[in-house]
Amino acid sequence: MKKVSTSTLLKMKAESEKIVAITAYDASFAKLFDEQGVDVILIGDSLGMVLKGDDDTTTVTVDEIAYHTRSVSKGASRCMIIADMPFMSYASPLQTYENAAQLMAAGATMVKMEGGKWLLDTIQGLVERGVPVCGHLGLTPQSVHVFGGFKVQGRSEEQATRLLNDAKALEQAGIQLLVLECVPVEIAETISQSLTIPVIGIGAGAGTDGQILVMHDMLGISANYMPKFSKNYLEQTGDIRKAVSLYIDEVQSGLFPSEAHSFK
Ligand code: KIV
Repeated sequence: MKKVSTSTLLKMKAESEKIVAITAYDASFAKLFDEQGVDVILIGDSLGMVLKGDDDTTTVTVDEIAYHTRSVSKGASRCMIIADMPFMSYASPLQTYENAAQLMAAGATMVKMEGGKWLLDTIQGLVERGVPVCGHLGLTPQSVHVFGGFKVQGRSEEQATRLLNDAKALEQAGIQLLVLECVPVEIAETISQSLTIPVIGIGAGAGTDGQILVMHDMLGISANYMPKFSKNYLEQTGDIRKAVSLYIDEVQSGLFPSEAHSFK
């Protein structure tokens, strides 16, 4: 089967075919997700919370992401593999290039970074050096202490306008994919329609070009907490392969996320 590339994702957007993404951190789950037909696997810094048991993602290191990226890349053969650049690993250009190189060497085909306009030069520098970049806007969890908690972003007109402008500027700087997290449905749809590149949502409604969930949420195994925007597919199916298959079906058919999993 042909490996998912940035061209595949662009074509999917052009043909209104929804992109299905999920996080994974090891070879076994990566293989299972790959075999079931997931398009994109993210080695997210969510691993700080779901694997290490921390309260947020700011404790995660580049070495940890690289370790899990190596495992995932051995399990997945078709999926695109995106590795998260963790907190403070892209604070300066040289540091960014070295850390991105480590994640690409570990098996990533794209790196993801959280932030808006302040990242433009960094993104351009990475792309010029051959590293594809995924942006991440909205509720960017590495800034949880600035936000004062995990809060929906983009509800005021000013915030919504900033989000749209940031998204356009990131695309201009060279990102090839954008994750939008916890933003109202309407602004997520506007941003998705305003960009040529695909937009993948999490808590951003059904109007984006694809969806991503943290695997522990999707399988209902996160320690005593289920975000409003997530859905426990294992509870419904009782089998991990069936759960993943149902998640894929519901994203592709537009059934997930429903209004109950979205924000106004
Ligand atoms: O770290 C992560 O898993 C993420 C997703 C929630 C998009 O960034």
